[in-house]
Amino acid sequence: MKVVGICGSPKKENSTTLFGLEKAMQAVKGCGVDTEIVQLSHHSFSGCIDCGKCREEYTCSLNDDFTNKIMPLLKGDEIKGLILGSPVYFGGVSSQMKMFIDRCVLFRRNGFRFENLIAGVLTVGRSRNGGQELTAMDLVKNAMIQGMTVVSDASPTSHFGGVFWSGNPGGVEQDETGIKTAQNLGKRVGELVIKVFG
Ligand SMILES: Cc1cc2nc3c(=O)[nH]c(=O)nc-3n(C[C@H](O)[C@H](O)[C@H](O)COP(=O)(O)O)c2cc1C
Repeated sequence: MKVVGICGSPKKENSTTLFGLEKAMQAVKGCGVDTEIVQLSHHSFSGCIDCGKCREEYTCSLNDDFTNKIMPLLKGDEIKGLILGSPVYFGGVSSQMKMFIDRCVLFRRNGFRFENLIAGVLTVGRSRNGGQELTAMDLVKNAMIQGMTVVSDASPTSHFGGVFWSGNPGGVEQDETGIKTAQNLGKRVGELVIKVFG
């Protein structure tokens, strides 16, 4: 059983979203579930072009890293959950995350392959109240449209998943509250994967 973390930052290095996602994934691992992180910045792919190919076949017409690398990973039977992490861009997800979300339509159109998988979301914004929760809801909407079971970061923090403030004086590394939400989220996702699929 494996949970995949998707990092929607365009940065190849020093991504604050990746920092947060790693905290969540360590907690998933602590539950005895395998993990893998996909940094979208390490892949070259575009948005969905609505060609309709995935209505006919369980594949995508675009010849890029999403089709050749990300899609095969997510098709795996061992995948039981996803944690979607995005920086806040103008109060919503990054364009990399949006492209990922749209390209995942093929999983919906081919028998709702993500249905019942466990989903968690994580967001990082530079402003204290810069739209982290709106962005979290953006990601939650996507997971719901895919039929996934979306979980919160659970008690005692229990709100909208991992929520970080990268502009705080010590950076994300010292965002103790954010780190707690990410760890609680990962624990919740890991525990539920075991309860549902173990
Ligand atoms: C185009 C753009 C738009 C942004 N919009 C917001 C925003 O609306 N709210 C906010 O708090 N931060 C915003 N930020 C800041 C990023 O969310 C923040 O720096 C975050 O930590 C970046 O994550 P990363 O290091 O993983 O790329 C924006 C940054 C960019 C480049």
